[in-house]
Amino acid sequence: MARYEVCPVEELPPGSMRIVPAGATIVGVYNCGGEYFALEDRCSHDDGPLVEGEWEPERCTVVCPRHGSHFDLRTGRPLSLPAYEPVETYGVVAEDGMIYVEVAD
Ligand code: FES
Repeated sequence: MARYEVCPVEELPPGSMRIVPAGATIVGVYNCGGEYFALEDRCSHDDGPLVEGEWEPERCTVVCPRHGSHFDLRTGRPLSLPAYEPVETYGVVAEDGMIYVEVAD
């Protein structure tokens, strides 16, 4: 497991997100009402740039900009077609004032 720095805690308040490189992948890190979640920037339907899509902090969902599937940020599961498989999710930790995302090596 590798840990990658995201940003200081104060730079990711509730309702905000960051896109960061994490090794060979790109990850979107979200703050939904004080809870952190992270998704891979690759839609399970057709490899669309998922975390570049609009997201709704209140519902904790993101919309794939390519074909419009909604995904639950908590689980990575799609909530609407055409995607039907989950996307990769990652652990997020806040430690000593910094946020990190944890990605398998
Ligand atoms: S690539 Fe995301 S819904 Fe098609």
